Amino acid sequence: MSDYGLTKILIMTGRLLEGKKGIIFGALNEASIAWKVAERTVEEGAQIVLSNTPMALRMGDTARLAEKLNTIVIPADATDLDDLDRLMKSSMEHFGGKFDFMLHSIGMSPNVRKSRHYSDLDYNFLEKTLDISAVSFHKVIQTARKNDAINEWGSILALSYVAAQRTFYGYNDMADAKALLESIARSFGYIYGRERNVRINTISQSPTPTTAGQGVKGFDNLIDFSERMSPLGNATADDCANYCVMMFSDLTRKVTMQNLFHDGGFSSMGMSLRAIEQYSKSFEYDKEHPFD
Ligand SMILES: NC(=O)c1ccc[n+]([C@@H]2O[C@H](COP(=O)([O-])OP(=O)(O)OC[C@H]3O[C@@H](n4cnc5c(N)ncnc54)[C@H](O)[C@@H]3O)[C@@H](O)[C@H]2O)c1
Repeated sequence: MSDYGLTKILIMTGRLLEGKKGIIFGALNEASIAWKVAERTVEEGAQIVLSNTPMALRMGDTARLAEKLNTIVIPADATDLDDLDRLMKSSMEHFGGKFDFMLHSIGMSPNVRKSRHYSDLDYNFLEKTLDISAVSFHKVIQTARKNDAINEWGSILALSYVAAQRTFYGYNDMADAKALLESIARSFGYIYGRERNVRINTISQSPTPTTAGQGVKGFDNLIDFSERMSPLGNATADDCANYCVMMFSDLTRKVTMQNLFHDGGFSSMGMSLRAIEQYSKSFEYDKEHPFD
C-alpha cells in the first residue's frame, strides 16, 4: 500500500488498527500490562484473541476481559509447543485466516518467587525462568511461522526491562531472561523480516505495579527511584498500551530488531536532582544519628 493510501485509510477511519487481528498473551487481571494493551487495540479497531495458561484462567480475570471486549480466550502454556500449535490454528479459524500482530507479555521466575539469592540459584528454577520468560517468545514465533499465521508486514512484540543491560539489585535471574528475550527479537527479526516483512521488537518498560512486577524484591523502592530518575516520570501500563498500538500499526513498518526503551528517559540518566535530594536526606540522618 502506498503511503498516500495508508494516510487516506487512517483519515477515513480515525483508528490505527482498523482491520487488524492479533493474539495477546498474558492479561491476568486489570493491573496487567497486557490487559491495557488488549483494551487499547480493540478501541483502535483491532480484533483480538486472548491467551493465558489454564491455571491463570482459573485464578485470574481473563474471561471477564474477553466478555467485555466481546472476544474469546484460548488457553495455552507458552512453553508447550502443542498448546501453541493449537492456539495458532484455532486463532486462524476464529479470524478466518492469518493475523497481523502478537504481544508476548509473559514473565515468571521461580527463583524470585522463592527468594533464592542470585549467588545461590536453583538451576531447575533457572531453566523454568528462561523457558517461561524468554524461550517461550521463540516458541510463539516459531509456531506462528510454521503455521504461516502472520500476514506480511505483521508486528510481534515482547515486553522487557532495562535490567537486561544493567544490573538492578533484586531482579535476579529475570535479568538473564530479559537479555535472552531481547536477543531472540534480533535473531528471529532477521529471519522473519527477510522472509515475510514481519517485524519483531521488544519494549523495555518502566517498573509497573502488576502481579509480576510486585514480585521483584524491593519493588516499591525501585518504582520510587525510577520515578525520581526519569525526566518524564515512569511510563504506566496505559502509556505502554499506547506504544504497543503504535508498534502494531502500519506507521512503524520499518522498525524491527530493536529494544525500544519506554521508560520516561530513565535508561539515559546517570543521576537526577530529585534522586540526589532523596539520597542526601539519608546523609542528614547519618549526621544526626552517627551511631545508629
Ligand atoms: N511490571 C513491571 O514492572 C514490568 C516492567 C518491565 C517489563 N515487564 C514485563 O511485562 C510482562 C507482563 O508482566 P506484567 O507486569 O503485566 O505482570 P502480570 O503478572 O500481570 O503478567 C504476567 C503474565 O505471564 C503469564 N504467564 C506466566 N507463565 C506463563 C506461561 N507458562 N505461559 C503463558 N503465560 C504465562 C501470567 O499468567 C500473567 O498473565 C512480563 O514479561 C514482564 O516481565 C514488567
